[in-house]
Amino acid sequence: MSNAQQKKYLVTGGAGYVGSVVAAHLLEAGHRVTVLDDLSTGHRAGVPEGAEFVEGRIQDAAKWLDPSYDGVLHFAAFSQVGESVVNPEKYWVNNVGGTTELLAAMRDAGVRTLVFSSTAATYGEPDQVPITEDLPTAPTNPYGASKLAVDHMISGECAAHGLAAVSLRYFNVAGAYGAYGERHDPESHLIPLVLQVAQGKREAISVFGDDYATPDGTCVRDYIHVADLADAHLLALGAALPSPTTTLDGGAARRGVNPGEHLICNLGNGNGFSVREVIETVRQVTGHPIPEIAAPRRGGDPAVLVASAERAKERLGWRPTRADLAGIVADAWEFAQRRESQ
Ligand SMILES: NC(=O)c1ccc[n+]([C@@H]2O[C@H](COP(=O)([O-])OP(=O)(O)OC[C@H]3O[C@@H](n4cnc5c(N)ncnc54)[C@H](O)[C@@H]3O)[C@@H](O)[C@H]2O)c1
Repeated sequence: MSNAQQKKYLVTGGAGYVGSVVAAHLLEAGHRVTVLDDLSTGHRAGVPEGAEFVEGRIQDAAKWLDPSYDGVLHFAAFSQVGESVVNPEKYWVNNVGGTTELLAAMRDAGVRTLVFSSTAATYGEPDQVPITEDLPTAPTNPYGASKLAVDHMISGECAAHGLAAVSLRYFNVAGAYGAYGERHDPESHLIPLVLQVAQGKREAISVFGDDYATPDGTCVRDYIHVADLADAHLLALGAALPSPTTTLDGGAARRGVNPGEHLICNLGNGNGFSVREVIETVRQVTGHPIPEIAAPRRGGDPAVLVASAERAKERLGWRPTRADLAGIVADAWEFAQRRESQ
């Protein structure tokens, strides 16, 4: 990569699950990366080798951001739905308040390119699938509401101050990328929880409701491989930089994201898998019987949540290449075993 092509990025939350995988992809693509993370839920070992690490808060981003940065990838946030219900203020202060400071620091430093981790939780319980970006947003918990508020803030920043931004609304992120994978504590995501049963860390997996209007009665969700997600971030950055340098595949240039524009794209496979299918796949991949416990439905769990990623395909040229559930689970299993042996 030539010096002109090499860019310098600030990755907030780069010691966490998704941020670490994206930071690793940026480094592999030849870019310079600074990870800003307060390690509140992330891990120092998650920061990829080759990245500069700053242990600090996004609230203080002005201390580190300067005009030498080409863009910011903003992953830092609290993201536990249940915790957000009992402690909503924690989510408003960190996710919304923290991003206010980050946007101000970017404005002051003249850094005008942003990619933000938004979420499917901004839609709440839509009555239509697949979920497109033009469906109404109606989050059902403070976590989703805080992320939606940030999306609104970013739209205002773009319109008023010429930021070029892409919000990527992830559905269920899963899988791992070599040494970088999911290690939330507490864990609330289905695949790592079922893998904990395979590892003997938990006796059984609870299945919350088996009488939904789905083929096997359990909830259907859209799982996206974290490495496919990383590809989307690199494409989004390429589209939003002042001179768009899009495409991973060397294909024709896409329509860039201009200063003043806030592009919002859903990211999912468009393929739903039921809770039972996930459990069965973990059985096949790990060879463990995975006992199940039938539990009542949880409030606020829609039967089916599946993304339409047509806009990401059209505007960013993104294509998921790791959509196979067995492959996603196998990568997550390899990471879980790798952690065990460390
Ligand atoms: N994992 C998913 O399935 C999923 C789905 C949709 C959206 N998202 C979003 O993606 C982003 C990353 O999620 P993740 O699963 O990697 O979470 P994570 O908890 O592993 O990573 C978040 C990182 O942000 C850091 N952080 C939090 N507040 C900070 C602050 N004020 N200053 C500096 N660092 C701070 C944490 O220490 C952590 O390393 C989040 O914004 C989340 O809302 C995740």
